[in-house]
Amino acid sequence: MSASPRSLGSRLQFRRGHELGPHERCTMRNGGNFLSIRNVHLTYGRRDKTEALKEFDLNVSLGEFVAIVGPSGCGKSSLMKLVTGLLLPSQGQIKVNGTVVDGPLKIVGMAFQNPTLLPWRKVLSNIVLPFEIVDEHRHKIRSQRHVYEEKARRLLNAVGLPEVENRFPWQLSGGMQQRVSLCRALVHEPALLLLDEPFGALDAFTREDLWDVLQDLWMKRKFTVIFVTHDLHEAVYLADKIHVMSRRPGRIIASYDVPIARPRREETAFEPVFIDIVHSLRRLIKLEMDGREHAGATREVQ
Ligand SMILES: Nc1ncnc2c1ncn2[C@@H]1O[C@H](COP(=O)(O)OP(=O)(O)O)[C@@H](O)[C@H]1O
Ligand SMILES: [Mg+2]
Repeated sequence: MSASPRSLGSRLQFRRGHELGPHERCTMRNGGNFLSIRNVHLTYGRRDKTEALKEFDLNVSLGEFVAIVGPSGCGKSSLMKLVTGLLLPSQGQIKVNGTVVDGPLKIVGMAFQNPTLLPWRKVLSNIVLPFEIVDEHRHKIRSQRHVYEEKARRLLNAVGLPEVENRFPWQLSGGMQQRVSLCRALVHEPALLLLDEPFGALDAFTREDLWDVLQDLWMKRKFTVIFVTHDLHEAVYLADKIHVMSRRPGRIIASYDVPIARPRREETAFEPVFIDIVHSLRRLIKLEMDGREHAGATREVQ
């Protein structure tokens, strides 16, 4: 069966309205868009200019799990840096929870393909690192270190690593390091979690294990997630909504709803709707990489 973003979107219902976890201090502003990106352009360099993003629009609702897919080099990582405020757009505006992003945001947790743990710190000490950086915690970390460490331990338990707190990162496997990295991204209870190909370097079994770890954490805590991946199965397994980017300069060319009940488990990947969406995404990205026109991939009104 063939499916276009449009037909899938209309045939299948989008799951909305996740409840906020108790930790979530953000309230809905900005017309229900927790993240809004309006007509953003990003150009690198002064002389040899590279247009990474152009006329980029995107809305993400509070508590939504969004995946971003697209051809290599289309600007996905650049987009993540813009959303965190590590880079500023050349043009256009990004708002998180109603406030314009004009510098690094503290309500964001991030994890990348490379776990980037500090090798000289033990696991627990790596996880509490955000508390040493985020303003509201920095002055309390000395007196309340045990409270913060307890939070870190709870997360280590939640990701299935109850006994590694005193190990160094280099004593852990890649999958374990990535679990620790997820704990570090989540320990300060960020409202927004940005993941840039976080499982890309892992073997298939470890990766699928981590899908469930992430999904279970998200179901409990309901933070908003933007998840960049080139693995289309991963995108469909995890996300409520998948946005497809064009070739560089990147913009959203199609959006898919993923109306598959949670928790999703191994057998979910065999459901016709799952396979349907994966095939449709693959076709669309292949056409985009080949530079051909794609019928049915109409840009959804954001
Ligand atoms: N710091 C930079 N300076 C110049 N060009 C860059 C920089 N970072 C990324 N680019 C270019 O911007 C484009 C988008 O890069 P990136 O966002 O990393 O893409 P993706 O993550 O989708 O692979 C690429 O052509 C890349 O070479
Ligand atoms: Mg990238």
